Amino acid sequence: MNIGILGLGTVGGGVVNVLAKNQAELFRRTGVQIQVTHAAVRELDQSRICSTEGIQLTQDPFEVVNTTSIDVVLELMGGTSLAKELVAVAIKNGKHVITANKALIATHGNELLNLAKANKLHLLFEAAVAGGIPILKSLEQGLSANKIEMVTGIINGTGNFILTEMRDKGRDFADVLKEAQDLGYAETDPTFDVEGIDAAHKLAILAAIAFGCELQFDKVSTEGISQISGEDVAFATELGYSIKHLGIAKNINGEVQMRVHPTLIPKSRLLANVDGVMNAVLIKGNAVGSTLYYGAGAGDEATASAVIADLVDIIKGTVSSDILGWQSLKAMPSQNQNEIKSIFYLRLLATDETGVLADITSILASHNISVESVVQKQIDAQNNAHIAIITNQVKTGNINAAVIDIQKKNFIQETVKIIHVETLD
Ligand code: HSE
Repeated sequence: MNIGILGLGTVGGGVVNVLAKNQAELFRRTGVQIQVTHAAVRELDQSRICSTEGIQLTQDPFEVVNTTSIDVVLELMGGTSLAKELVAVAIKNGKHVITANKALIATHGNELLNLAKANKLHLLFEAAVAGGIPILKSLEQGLSANKIEMVTGIINGTGNFILTEMRDKGRDFADVLKEAQDLGYAETDPTFDVEGIDAAHKLAILAAIAFGCELQFDKVSTEGISQISGEDVAFATELGYSIKHLGIAKNINGEVQMRVHPTLIPKSRLLANVDGVMNAVLIKGNAVGSTLYYGAGAGDEATASAVIADLVDIIKGTVSSDILGWQSLKAMPSQNQNEIKSIFYLRLLATDETGVLADITSILASHNISVESVVQKQIDAQNNAHIAIITNQVKTGNINAAVIDIQKKNFIQETVKIIHVETLD
């Protein structure tokens, strides 16, 4: 089995290393010798994490996808324009393709999967979601008896690493982000991590496989973690929660809701204790109930583990993605944002004067929102009270309307912060 790799960076290098160190194990499983014969790289002389012995290097990625002897192309270079073109050429040249590129699948997956299907080839992408966790295979194989009701996950390692360091060490956002970049976790453009775009790519893929619908990245509502302050982290801790950047996809009576946003989770929940660069995905099936999958969401060999598992599936002929029946998949209608029900955390900075809390709670009540708990911190030097409120479960439209009314009050000193709360019951 001859393999051509596009990109020998963190993931490509990891693949070469894992293929070498687990050669005997992979032969035992497949009965096939897997050889990386060609690789396209940006710089020929750059230092790498893997050996390039026996691999023909080229700076022209088209040379790889056009080489007749190559059976499978691994697209591990990232980006969406050139990568899309190369994947399409590889498929048209009769090659199976495996990619770790979530942006490519989320944005061009419908077209590329149809192309692969029309050519009776596989386009696999286990490594695109949650790094080393075999989450797509779990959905497609282990949970195939279920109607999936919900998928909720911490699916961006960089964001989780930042929130964990802020909570545990009181570190500064920018400082932790820099460390995540140095460790090779972050995307080339780290705003993809902190603004939730990377998680939205992954969530769109998870939802498509979980609910059997088209990839609908444009329907994911996305909010990042860059506005989470040390004060929010401290309030959350005091109220018994951890703040996590969650991707949530639900099938509500045939309507899909897909959202990525910071979320308060009760500390007693397993997801609240998934820290550092680790990822975890909670899946609720209508037969099995809740199942939880945990592991490294980024990193060279963890991601390589998922890439090579796809390769093994192709060799053994155990690919399950065909059961997705991509050509018959349809778009799924989205649930109206205002109808989405959630508990909310509100943080307010208000002048310390009589009746402020009463005013706030009466506005909430006028929108059918009741208060589950409230914490008021110190009155600061400007005579302002720092207040955090946890509501009951309400419609998003109601909380937004209530906050507009609260914001109009003269005693409110800054924009009211709204963060979702999920109890994961
Ligand atoms: N930037 C991604 C993350 C890499 O931090 O999770 C893995 O997809």
